[in-house]
Amino acid sequence: MHDVVVRTERLALRILDTEDAAVLAVPAEWVRRKIVQQERLGFSPWAVTDRSSGEVYGFCGLFWRAAKGITLGYAIVASARGRGYATEAAGAVLGWAEDRQIPVYASVRPPNPASERVLRKIGMELDDHYWDEDGERLVYRRSPNPRSAGRT
Ligand SMILES: CC(C)(COP(=O)(O)OP(=O)(O)OC[C@H]1O[C@@H](n2cnc3c(N)ncnc32)[C@H](O)[C@@H]1OP(=O)(O)O)[C@@H](O)C(=O)NCCC(=O)NCCS
Repeated sequence: MHDVVVRTERLALRILDTEDAAVLAVPAEWVRRKIVQQERLGFSPWAVTDRSSGEVYGFCGLFWRAAKGITLGYAIVASARGRGYATEAAGAVLGWAEDRQIPVYASVRPPNPASERVLRKIGMELDDHYWDEDGERLVYRRSPNPRSAGRT
């Protein structure tokens, strides 16, 4: 029996299992690191599953970035996109973090209009942007600081 962390109307977000790696198309080592993160910090990216059938639709949860803090991240498998799962899961994770007063930001590498749409639908707003070696990153937060906004 998997440990469910968050439930929504259609979804159960549970702690990842190494067997999820194939469905999620991520390395098993990545999943193992996230399980260790879960044990140490009490949060991690979680498996987004169908509440009834248990089918795995993707992952959604909180990543720890040493330099920048705790970031909301998600991906839904291509066959399950467009049904509102990312919005439902990300909104629930944001609520979970806010209930625990964990400050969360999200960053998007443009162009990714679907991801920006998800963030806006859960009440986050563009707050900042920066450049790294791979290009631009847009930073979304629930409570934007207008003075640091780099884009309109
Ligand atoms: C981003 C992603 C998680 C969205 O998953 P999803 O379950 O399809 O998302 P939802 O159905 O909840 O919402 C998607 C929204 O984006 C919109 N959208 C999708 N493609 C779009 C596009 N090309 N341009 C504009 N809007 C788009 C959808 O219409 C929907 O908005 P709506 O409800 O107002 O119609 C999914 O596309 C994905 O896994 N992408 C690859 C991984 C990724 O980019 N992760 C985010 C990293 S920051």
